[in-house]
Amino acid sequence: GAPVVADISALQEGQRLIVEWRGQPIWIVKRSKAILDALHGLDGRLKDPESGEKDQQPEYVLKQNPELRSIKPEISVLVGLCTHLGCSPEMVGEIRPEPYDPQWKGGYFCPCHKSRFDMSGRVFKDVPAPINLKVPAHHYQDDNTIIIG
Ligand code: FES
Repeated sequence: GAPVVADISALQEGQRLIVEWRGQPIWIVKRSKAILDALHGLDGRLKDPESGEKDQQPEYVLKQNPELRSIKPEISVLVGLCTHLGCSPEMVGEIRPEPYDPQWKGGYFCPCHKSRFDMSGRVFKDVPAPINLKVPAHHYQDDNTIIIG
């Protein structure tokens, strides 16, 4: 499939833009400082905090900071399909997903079998999804334009 162009000029903090690429939903999320801060200290609760699973992201998104899994700290680009059986997870903020997680600080929640991911798409330990959400190949054409693929 051809690359897809995403204009993120109107994307506000905490918002998710969804575009389609190769028949898959691609999420582009602008993370606030609070969202980024919440990523710290989750390592012990995650299956693959350092994103060691090589097929799940291009190498260049791990260079600056592996916990962010992004080119720019605030902008996260993910394939919006659960790595368990492919449902589309929801973005969940303050509302705690069930089963109740007292330490929940926001992330993605898959309604099909209750897998949870943080705001970098990293999967939690105690859920059926085996690996982190995928980060697709992408690059910036300019500050407000991302090319997916
Ligand atoms: Fe997401 Fe099963 S498809 S938890």
